[in-house]
Amino acid sequence: MRRNSRLGLLFVLILVCILYEEVNFGNIQIYTANRYNVIVYRDITIKRDSITRIGILIILETEGDEVNYPLALDSVKCYAEKFNYGIHILYTSTNPAKKICKQKDFMFLRHCILAENLYNLDYEWIFFLDADMGIINPNVLLESFIPNDEKTQLVFYNRIMNHEVMAGSYLLKNGEYARKFLNFWADYFYKLPNSFHGTDNGALHSAIVEFSLPMKEKQRKLCEERFWKTSSGYHTLSIYEVCIQDILKSQKIDTISILPKGRFSWARDGWLTNSVWSDKDFIFHGWQKKRLDKLIFAEWHSPLVGTFNLSLCGTEDAYKNWRYKDSFISSNLVVDRILYITIKAMNEEYEKILRSLL
Ligand SMILES: *[C@@H]1O[C@H](CO)[C@@H](O)[C@H](O)[C@H]1NC(C)=O
Repeated sequence: MRRNSRLGLLFVLILVCILYEEVNFGNIQIYTANRYNVIVYRDITIKRDSITRIGILIILETEGDEVNYPLALDSVKCYAEKFNYGIHILYTSTNPAKKICKQKDFMFLRHCILAENLYNLDYEWIFFLDADMGIINPNVLLESFIPNDEKTQLVFYNRIMNHEVMAGSYLLKNGEYARKFLNFWADYFYKLPNSFHGTDNGALHSAIVEFSLPMKEKQRKLCEERFWKTSSGYHTLSIYEVCIQDILKSQKIDTISILPKGRFSWARDGWLTNSVWSDKDFIFHGWQKKRLDKLIFAEWHSPLVGTFNLSLCGTEDAYKNWRYKDSFISSNLVVDRILYITIKAMNEEYEKILRSLL
């Protein structure tokens, strides 16, 4: 009897220790999440034959910041070299455009720096990517996201996990329109309310409406007065975003396209599916070194093994850099279903917020 209860106590103690460890460090969860049986190689079969000049642009504060995104940056560099896309990383701290761009918040500054460099970039279309965006599937071409009408100058996309138009990645037609828009948006730095404003991401919503839908000024100002200026956290910020999204839904913009949630854009947050991916995926957002295998928001586990050898990228062996953990590869059906559940929940929340605005 006594022996049994002592054993029982020991058992409970061990359990408490394991629980404590898992809640705070999660070594078992992380170990399990990273497990795989075999490394899978997949041929890069797609061929690029278009002659459209396309460049990828990434902006960081300093060159030293590159160490925070090794996998993401290497995957993008390798992809660009493989398909002969241009790739440039601009540093706001040393870029000559710093003389013109005076925004004191890097998030705004980067759009101004890009705007002021457009003339030097000899591309018809430019993909702006956050530094933590990595190519999970190189069998997709950037061309498939370039609009086939003549009017569209900028393409954004709606993020799946909330009501934002994503600010961290967009596609632009290199010209006067995009340059003006980016400067206009960057200058929202000087118009920010003294609230939880969501930096360039919050401002993007008002910037799009003010820039391209001047006839909606009254509605926009109402959203700003009621919800942006009073915002105190992510929840209240999203009420402002829904308010603006409702304006955007009521009126099509010829020059700016905003892709709907889901499989329509070039990128999505990888953590929505715990980094599990399928053929329809292309770019994952969220590959930050500080969030790799950490029990924090936007934690991620790498679906790839090892690091990139960039000297392979221009050769037939480029595919050897994407050493996939088999456990992270899934079918379109499975990934679609997981994303659909989130999209459905977000759409319901959107409708609920919209009703509360009336
Ligand atoms: C990278 O690839 C090149 C070309 O195949 C090879 O010569 C070199 O040893 C590789 N480097 C590493 C670190 O594996």
